[in-house]
Amino acid sequence: MTTKSKTPSDIRGAVRERYGKIAENFQVRMQASCDCSTTQSSCCAPEIESQLDTITRFYEDPDAFELPTEVTELSLGCGDPVTLASLKEGQTVLDLGAGGGIDCFLAAKKVGPTGKVIGVDMTPAMIERARSNQIKLEARNVEFRLGEIENLPVADDTVDVIISNCVINLSPDKHQVFREAYRVLRQGGKLAVSDIVTDGSLPDVIKNSLSAWAGCVAGAIDVKEYIAAMQDAGFIDVDVNASYWDQEMINEAIEQIAPDLKSQIKAVDRNGQAVLVVNNGADHALAEFDPQKAIFSAKITARKPK
Ligand SMILES: C[S@@+](CC[C@H](N)C(=O)[O-])C[C@H]1O[C@@H](n2cnc3c(N)ncnc32)[C@H](O)[C@@H]1O
Repeated sequence: MTTKSKTPSDIRGAVRERYGKIAENFQVRMQASCDCSTTQSSCCAPEIESQLDTITRFYEDPDAFELPTEVTELSLGCGDPVTLASLKEGQTVLDLGAGGGIDCFLAAKKVGPTGKVIGVDMTPAMIERARSNQIKLEARNVEFRLGEIENLPVADDTVDVIISNCVINLSPDKHQVFREAYRVLRQGGKLAVSDIVTDGSLPDVIKNSLSAWAGCVAGAIDVKEYIAAMQDAGFIDVDVNASYWDQEMINEAIEQIAPDLKSQIKAVDRNGQAVLVVNNGADHALAEFDPQKAIFSAKITARKPK
């Protein structure tokens, strides 16, 4: 699935298709009551067996370990935005790209019955999974809405805190996502996001792959551009903390996220350090980069001025 002339609509289509399949396959797996304890999910790629455990790897909140497998096994994030957000009782929280709802359920516990959590996702099968999880958990202060984060189905100035976990990198229009986030936040409201960003630009062969985009790699932008997009929308006090991936995660990502790139990317050893060599398909090296430094997940916070 490689194209040089991808449009925003191509990208959204590829992303929706990928996450729709993940949600549908997950439902089939759950219905078949297969032993999911051996099929752990890694960031953005849960349909493929992996030894990585997203909950143990990313979540600091002990409540995450209490959630049922229907929720935790569909966790596709790259961080713990609820802990980052330091939520308080009574707050209204919005989760951008809620997926199966894991962060909504964690946030719902923090804001309590006087608070409210809204989860928005553009993939109908994900919304279906999230609503079914909501019924199972009897989470009355949570609501899932089908919609795009570039055009939020949420009224102006109504949200105290926006969270998001490994989603904004998937958007073809990140500036619009931050403008919308700013619009729906109340004055003084907070943004607490876990996301994938890059240090510099990725090789074109990766950026041009729709499957790498849908797998949370190709859509990731330089951290400086990400910060600028937030500031352009009006956010202040922007703070970014990097968490670098370990080699095991990088190997998983290369293996799983973009199978169409396999013939063009290979890992080679440079003095004990695995770097990726990108070639033109005829074994002519075009670029070389260190994925452990070039792509990382980040904890990002910002505020709408009072
Ligand atoms: C990597 S998953 C993360 C899901 C969830 N945040 C989690 O941590 O498990 C990305 C989710 O974002 C949704 N998504 C991606 N782009 C979106 C967009 N432009 N608008 C709304 N939802 C989007 C996908 O449908 C998918 O459910």
